Amino acid sequence: MTPDDAPRRGPYDVLFRRVLSRLDPEQAHRLTVRALANAHRLPGGPQLLRALFGGTDPLRDTGPTRRVLGAEHRSPLGLAAGFDKDGEVPLALLDLGFGHVEVGTVTAKAQPGNPRPRSFRLVEDRALINRMGFNNHGAQALERRLARARRTERGQRAVIGVNIGKSKVTTLEDAAEDYRFSARLLAPYASYLAINVSSPNTPGLRDLQSVEMLRPILEAVVQEAVAVRTRLRREVPVLVKIAPDLHDGDVQAVARLAAEVGLAGVIATNTTIARPDSLATARSRVEQIGAGGLSGPILADRSMQVLQLLRTTLPQDAVIISCGGVTSAQDVRDRLDAGADLVQGYTAMIYEGPAWPGRLSRELDPRR
Ligand code: FNR
Repeated sequence: MTPDDAPRRGPYDVLFRRVLSRLDPEQAHRLTVRALANAHRLPGGPQLLRALFGGTDPLRDTGPTRRVLGAEHRSPLGLAAGFDKDGEVPLALLDLGFGHVEVGTVTAKAQPGNPRPRSFRLVEDRALINRMGFNNHGAQALERRLARARRTERGQRAVIGVNIGKSKVTTLEDAAEDYRFSARLLAPYASYLAINVSSPNTPGLRDLQSVEMLRPILEAVVQEAVAVRTRLRREVPVLVKIAPDLHDGDVQAVARLAAEVGLAGVIATNTTIARPDSLATARSRVEQIGAGGLSGPILADRSMQVLQLLRTTLPQDAVIISCGGVTSAQDVRDRLDAGADLVQGYTAMIYEGPAWPGRLSRELDPRR
């Protein structure tokens, strides 16, 4: 879809074209997070956000839910990792109408990420390229924020996944202990843990998807989740997030390993390092942007293929969260029909605005 034939959707569209699209994407993102945090902090702020954007009240709404990963989801659509890396606004994002929010990627050690600019819009493709490099405040800061968010009854019911990655300074050999550190701190507050071995912007990270390197990482995180189960009597499901660039045989190898070591499931997929010929954006512009992970509708076909492959490889009861290029309610239905248990999106919200999750969730609500 080009910007010209994209449906026009009122105030956000004007705001996007006149203001946000002229800002550096990262600056626009910071402004959005700050606005959400401020709105949520106002007396009556959460109610206002829900009234404006269509989120449901988890304490009052008695509508149907979908039970996945031991939690009740009011919508199958969740927000993918990377938007709220430091867990600053998970409850406000749920008020927009997402069924769950995956915070992170967070790393054991706080780190600044790559030099700016590091996030770029490909407007003609409604796509993004980012090479953020896991800029985040570290696992301990996230632990404090999540502990605060979980203090209220609302916060306890919120479905908040926590996505963990490897600190840049940690060698690949020491990766398992680095993931273990974050898992130990964060599992008590996580509805589920997602092990990210698929972002293209930490050197060597995606090599961790090979079965030999992945096994000790998955085992370390599962051990920490089991420790929480014993201590707090609560299951913390663990999933692994994979790249769309893996060959089919490697997707299957990761799926078999995940089942063998007791993971709850797989999140597929992260961004791609490919630059397909079918991109509408001029090749010179894409080359000028350089390295990074590409997201948006261009990912949809491969993401669907990986979902189908996982469904035939994983055990029946394994959970698949499908992610990559999801834009419409029909896209969400198609992923569910193909065997996904939940669906996530990120890039579509950048182009469609804060009303996007509420609109899709309403369209997907069986009562309407
Ligand atoms: C991401 N994504 C991402 N994934 C992840 O596991 N950890 C992260 O920190 C990030 N960071 C991040 C930043 C930005 C700016 C973007 C656009 C994406 C990937 C994201 O979660 C998702 O897997 C892909 O973007 C594909 O979904 P969409 O965007 O096509 O719906």
